[in-house]
Amino acid sequence: MAAPKPPTTTRIQRGINSVIFSPPERNPENNGSSAFYKLGECQDCEALNATLLARIELLTENEIFHRNHFLGGRYENLYVVLDAIPEMRVILDLATAQAAHILDQPKKELVIGWWLNIMRPGDYTYPHTHDDADELLSGVYYIVVPPRSGKLLLTKGSQRAEVEPRAGRIVYFKPDVLHEVMRNESDGSRISIGFNVGPVQT
Ligand SMILES: [Fe+2]
Repeated sequence: MAAPKPPTTTRIQRGINSVIFSPPERNPENNGSSAFYKLGECQDCEALNATLLARIELLTENEIFHRNHFLGGRYENLYVVLDAIPEMRVILDLATAQAAHILDQPKKELVIGWWLNIMRPGDYTYPHTHDDADELLSGVYYIVVPPRSGKLLLTKGSQRAEVEPRAGRIVYFKPDVLHEVMRNESDGSRISIGFNVGPVQT
């Protein structure tokens, strides 16, 4: 297999310039189950996602500095050196800004942690929560979503929602929301990042 080409400066620049997130509460799909999750969209984000994918394909073992959640034969969470995917800062910054809006807290008082999730054909992401620390808000951003690569299932008490993933979509939910991803029935990998937003430690 030919090695993937590194992203060009043009693609990087176009990606950064083209990102626009809609405020989550304006998304009509939030109606009904908006109490425990919110959606945002990265509009015209194809170039940015292509750049992120190219960077991910070039990652070396050393740039993945930690792996955890070994379930179903894979590590669900891959912790990557941010300098290996510098364009991810665009997503992280906007996710933090939207989290500040959702939480009604100043952005400067919040910090975001993130990890990469690569689901190959046949993979699941098992049910879990993110409430094991002082997190305030959790979420996922989709970079590559082949058709039929697994819906996101969210459960909180008697509330249950199925969220259709698509590239450029961002989903926010409280850290104690139980969530899982259905089996990837496609023949391609589904790539997303998970994140937690918490208070800046003083
Ligand atoms: Fe998760």
